[in-house]
Amino acid sequence: MHLLTTITSLLCILLASISTAEAQDGQQPLQDSASKPNILFILTDDQDLHMDSLSYMPYLKEHIIDRGLSFNRHYCTVALCCPSRVSMWTGLAAHNTNVTDINPPYGGYPKFVAEGFNEDYLPLWLQEAGYGTYYVGKLYNGQSVSNYDSPHAAGWTGSDFLLDPYTYRYLNATFQRNHDKPVSYERKYVTDVVSDKAHGFLDDALRTREETGQPFFFTVAPTAPHSDVYIRRKNIDGDFDENSNVQSPPIPAERHKHLFEDVVVPRTPNFNPDKPGGASWISRLPKQNQTKVDFNDHFYRSRLRALQAVDEMVDSLVKRLSDAGVLENTYIVYSTDNGYTIGQHRRQPGKQCAFEQDINIPFIIRGPGIPEGASTNIVTTHTDVAPTFLALTGARPPSAFELDGQAIPLNGVETDGRRQEHVNVEMWGIIMSEGKYGSILYPNHTYKALRIEGEAYGYLYVVWCSGEHELYDMKLDPYQLNNLHRSEPAAAVSLRRNTASLAPNSSVPMPEPMSMPDSSSDSSRDDGAGSDVSHTAVASLIHRLDAVLMVLKTCSGRQCTHPWDSLFPNGEVKTLADALDDSYNDFFETKVEKVQYDKCEKGYIAESEGPVWSSHQVFGMNHEIAFE
Ligand SMILES: *[C@@H]1O[C@H](CO)[C@@H](O)[C@H](O)[C@H]1NC(C)=O
Ligand SMILES: *[C@@H]1O[C@H](CO)[C@@H](O)[C@H](O)[C@H]1NC(C)=O
Ligand SMILES: *[C@@H]1O[C@H](CO)[C@@H](O)[C@H](O)[C@H]1NC(C)=O
Ligand SMILES: *[C@@H]1O[C@H](CO)[C@@H](O)[C@H](O)[C@H]1NC(C)=O
Ligand SMILES: *[C@@H]1O[C@H](CO)[C@@H](O)[C@H](O)[C@H]1NC(C)=O
Repeated sequence: MHLLTTITSLLCILLASISTAEAQDGQQPLQDSASKPNILFILTDDQDLHMDSLSYMPYLKEHIIDRGLSFNRHYCTVALCCPSRVSMWTGLAAHNTNVTDINPPYGGYPKFVAEGFNEDYLPLWLQEAGYGTYYVGKLYNGQSVSNYDSPHAAGWTGSDFLLDPYTYRYLNATFQRNHDKPVSYERKYVTDVVSDKAHGFLDDALRTREETGQPFFFTVAPTAPHSDVYIRRKNIDGDFDENSNVQSPPIPAERHKHLFEDVVVPRTPNFNPDKPGGASWISRLPKQNQTKVDFNDHFYRSRLRALQAVDEMVDSLVKRLSDAGVLENTYIVYSTDNGYTIGQHRRQPGKQCAFEQDINIPFIIRGPGIPEGASTNIVTTHTDVAPTFLALTGARPPSAFELDGQAIPLNGVETDGRRQEHVNVEMWGIIMSEGKYGSILYPNHTYKALRIEGEAYGYLYVVWCSGEHELYDMKLDPYQLNNLHRSEPAAAVSLRRNTASLAPNSSVPMPEPMSMPDSSSDSSRDDGAGSDVSHTAVASLIHRLDAVLMVLKTCSGRQCTHPWDSLFPNGEVKTLADALDDSYNDFFETKVEKVQYDKCEKGYIAESEGPVWSSHQVFGMNHEIAFE
C-alpha cells in the first residue's frame, strides 16, 4: 500500500523535524487525539500568484507567509473552480473524478454526488480519524437553493455553505447552515458574513477541543476575489450561453473601495502584447484597446480591494487561535482553487488555460515544525492536498481507491531526491471570459497539458482537441511568448544542467533567447543550476513530453506521480533529463502512441480522446505496437 508508506515516511520526516525524540522507530506514530494538530484551511476563489495579489495582503504576510513555508511551484491540475475543488477534496485527477465542469451534466455538485464522492471524500476520512470538521463558504458550483438537501454535503460537523445562484453575489449572498433552510443576506458584505460565521464555528471547535480533546479541521472558503456573478437561470444546467449570467468586477467592502487607486495590472512582457500568442482561440484575440485596458485595470484593483476583507479575516482568525492558546498546535494553510489572468496574452479576465497565471497558484503553510519565512521550489499540486491533510492528521481513506497525489513534504525538501517534476493539467468544455468585454464563449476549450519543471529545464506542452500544440521553454521564455511547436522540428532548445553527459548532440544552433526584463518575482525561479548549456532537438523533446502525457492522461494512483516508471519498468529513467538520452530515440519516436483527440467534446468522453497508454508501450518490449 504505497499511500500508507508515503504517509508514514512523511509523518516521520515531519515529526523528526518537530521533535527528534519522537517517532524514531519508523512506525506510524500513535497520537492520541488530544495531541493531534488542528488544521485551518483558508481557500480563496480565483486568486492569482502572478499578478502579485499576495503583496497586497499585509496580515497574510505577517501571520502566514513570514511564519511559514511558501510553495513557489504549486499548481492546480484543472484551472476551473468546481473540478479543481473536487480534485482537492478527493485527491484524484479530474479524469478520475469525471467532475470536469462547473455545472451538470459534466460537473457541479450534482455530478460530485452522482460519482459517489459524497460518501467517500476527505472530511469523512478526517471524521473517521477523530476530527471535528467545519466548513464556511463556497464548497462547489452547482450546489444550489434547489439541490442543497438532496443530499446534503456529507462529512461536516458544522457547515454554512454559499448556494447558487447567489454564491457570487457580494451584497446578496445566500447561505445554508447545517440542515437549516437557506438564508439570504441582502446588503450584507459577503466576506464579512463568512468571517462572522467562521468565528462562530471556531468558537464551537475550540470549546469542543477544550472539553473533549477533539482536534478540528476547519475550511473557510470566501468567494473573493472571484468576479460578482448574477446567474440568470434558476435551474443551472448544461445549456450555458452568453445570456446565462452577467459577470462584473468583484465588489469590495465599503471601507476598502478607495484603496489602490493608482495600481494597475503588472505590465509583464506578456501583457497585451503586440503579437498574438498561444494557440486556438487565444491566437486569434485582438490587441486590447485603451478602453478595455482601463476597464481591466479597474477590474484588477477591484480584486485587490475585495481581498482586503479576506486579509482582515486572516488576522482575526489567527488572533483567535493565539488567544485560545492553540496556535502552536495548528497548521494554517492558505491557497485558492485556480489562478487568474487579466490581459496576459491579450486575454480578458478569466482562467481555464494552462498558462502559468492560471495554474501556478498560492500555497502557503505554517504550523508545528514548518520552517518560518521560507520558500521552496519543489513541484506540488492540488491532487497532493488531500494526501497532505491525511498525513498531518493520521487519517486515511477507508475505500479501495488509491489517491493520485502524494503528501507534500512540509519541510519543503524532496523526500527521496526524486519527487515528481511534472504537473498533469486537464480541461474540457467551453471557456467564458469574465470582463465587460469578455463574452468570448469558445466551445472547444478541451486540452491536455504537461508542465515539467526540473532544476535545469522547464516546459509547458499542450495538446488541444483541435490538433493544435504548444511548447514553451520556461527557462528561456517564462512569459510563454514563443510557441516552439510552430518552429522547425529540428530547432533546438537549451537545457542547462549539471552534467552534460546525457545531452544528445545537435548541430542545430539554439534560438536566440527572448530578452526578458528583470523581474524580481521571477529571479527566484532562475536557479542557475549548472553552467553547461546543451541543446536538444525540439522534435526529440516533444516525443518525450508526449509519451509522459500519454501515460498521465489516464493515469491512476502511483502512476500519476511516477509516470516514467510505467514507460521504464526497469527503473532506468526517472526524469526528463534521463529520458533525453539518444539511446531512447527509437522507443519514444515509434513505440509510444501519440496524444491526440478524435473529436472535441464538452466533457470526458473516452472514445473521443484517442489512443491510451497500455502496458505494451514500455521500453524493452520487443513486439511492435499497432498504430492505427
Ligand atoms: C436577494 O436575494 C434574494 C434571494 O435569496 C432575492 O429574493 C432578493 O430579491 C434579492 N435582492 C436583491 C436586491 O437582489
Ligand atoms: C475599444 O473598443 C470598444 C468596443 O470594441 C469600443 O467601445 C471603444 O470605443 C474602443 N476604445 C477606443 C479607445 O478605441
Ligand atoms: C557527440 O559528439 C561528439 C563530438 O563531436 C562525438 O564524439 C560523439 O560520438 C557524439 N555522440 C553522439 C551520441 O552522437
Ligand atoms: C468544435 O469541435 C467540433 C467537434 O470536434 C467541431 O465540429 C466544431 O466545428 C468545432 N468548433 C469550433 C468553433 O472550432
Ligand atoms: C464522464 O461523465 C459523462 C457524463 O456523465 C459521461 O458521459 C462519460 O462517459 C464519463 N466518462 C468516463 C470516462 O466515464
